[in-house]
Amino acid sequence: MDDIQKLLENKRAAARLGGGQKRIDAQHKKGKLTARERLELLFDDDSFEEWDMFVQHRCVDFGMDANHIPGDGVVTGYGTINGRLAFAYSQDFTVFGGALSEAHAEKICKVMDQAMKVGAPVIGLNDSGGARIQEGVASLGGYAEVFQRNVMASGVIPQISLIMGPSAGGAVYSPAITDFIFMVKDSSYMFVTGPEVVKTVTHEEVTAEELGGASTHTTKSGVADLAFDNDVEALLMLRRFFNYLPLSNREKPPVRPSGDPATRRDESLDTLVPANPNQPYDIKELIAKVVDDGDFFELQPEYAKNIVTGFARMDGGTVGIVANQPLVLAGCLDIKSSIKAARFVRFCDAFHIPVVTFVDVPGFMPGTSQEYGGIIKHGAKLLYAYAEATVPKITVITRKAYGGAYDVMASKHLRGDVNFAWPNAEIAVMGAKGAVEIIFREDKGDPEKLAAKEAEYKARFANPFVAAERGYIDDVIQPHETRQRICRSLKMLKDKKLDNPWRKHGNIPL
Ligand code: COA
Repeated sequence: MDDIQKLLENKRAAARLGGGQKRIDAQHKKGKLTARERLELLFDDDSFEEWDMFVQHRCVDFGMDANHIPGDGVVTGYGTINGRLAFAYSQDFTVFGGALSEAHAEKICKVMDQAMKVGAPVIGLNDSGGARIQEGVASLGGYAEVFQRNVMASGVIPQISLIMGPSAGGAVYSPAITDFIFMVKDSSYMFVTGPEVVKTVTHEEVTAEELGGASTHTTKSGVADLAFDNDVEALLMLRRFFNYLPLSNREKPPVRPSGDPATRRDESLDTLVPANPNQPYDIKELIAKVVDDGDFFELQPEYAKNIVTGFARMDGGTVGIVANQPLVLAGCLDIKSSIKAARFVRFCDAFHIPVVTFVDVPGFMPGTSQEYGGIIKHGAKLLYAYAEATVPKITVITRKAYGGAYDVMASKHLRGDVNFAWPNAEIAVMGAKGAVEIIFREDKGDPEKLAAKEAEYKARFANPFVAAERGYIDDVIQPHETRQRICRSLKMLKDKKLDNPWRKHGNIPL
């Protein structure tokens, strides 16, 4: 080996060592992998191509001129995940606590810019103490450069954040703009201001985990989509998740042929919905029985559980599933569930992913907390998302579709392409009891008359045929043939083309 080759190898070895063996050991002791170990797990073997390994910061303050570590706290590059291209950056906590300097930000921006040019997702593995304190405003500028790119990339390439350590202050806003946030339990946290500041300002005593741990963000705030037990699980699940997504908005989602026939019937669905309309059932059972191989990748499973969202495949192609969950709050739409589903529908629409909606909704959630919280504005988000979506939209009403919530849940009127109902579906302004109590208010002392009117209302409206007579429902189908009918509709809709009128952008109620 001649000298120059030796020099290169030495420089590479120094960069690979990051902040040194002691700090690597400390990282491992916390149950965390290093930035490079994470990338090795995320990408296919030998596929990762690293860039900017020799980049260094340019700070001279606070002794930093004598403290240079090649790579400057972030490993960036591209590789393949199950053979498909992706760009990534992985923050190295062993180097200045993964803190973001100007140079560190430039490295992230470089992969983001390239990903936009070639049309491939960006995955951020976040593990950072935030803005590099010694650099001051230069590091804040670096963050803003990343934010700007996050916004420009939104809806163009999928952006995924995996939070694998601290993410505090300004550091939270890049992940916040990305499409999906996954966290690792017990070793990651996200907050705008940490426990110390909280204590000073609001006198609340709270731990970092309580304030911004994975469980907080997947159950209380809804900031994160999923929480995983450790780094390895998170990275392997991310590889699985990646398989559902198209690389950019220039292409359709991938198709993975399955041995599960599109014509498969499931007779057990005929008895899924209980005869008593007030008795719940698990909508996830329907999803599992209808999608390819029962394989459903649910997002936000512990947040706003009254609506279920996630990805699956049908006849091999990716679909986004949105479903009311009768098991929780009777499947009512409320503020949280509207926001959760609206964001999901908009992701699907941006990336050509057909949306399959299962409806069993008794209406919007009543109450002062909902009204004061702005259910009008937030419920409108879901309505807006469905109405603007131009991807194939297939809707199946399994039981209740009452009131405004009927309209919202991908109804025919919001350009639903194929709208099915099961034979026992009830499509009406409200349930029979409530309706009769309002229309025949003056007969409230005559229970017999009210019962007769309720039966009349039920017979007239508690079925799918009134809507079908008007063409609001394309067909009333048997539950057991649901999969077949959806798969056939998806095939018919494969080359659907629908454009919204030109505008700079719409003004979704925020
Ligand atoms: N800028 C520069 N260096 C930083 C840093 C930052 N924002 N955050 C952490 N570091 C450095 C530490 O000085 C330490 O360096 P060393 O290994 O040479 O001693 C190393 O990263 C690890 O940090 P440490 O505090 O020992 O790790 P920890 O796991 O105990 O705590 C944090 C992690 C993130 C909670 C803690 O480092 C912290 O509070 N950092 C500051 C966060 C902040 O206020 N950021 C600015 C706002 S955006």
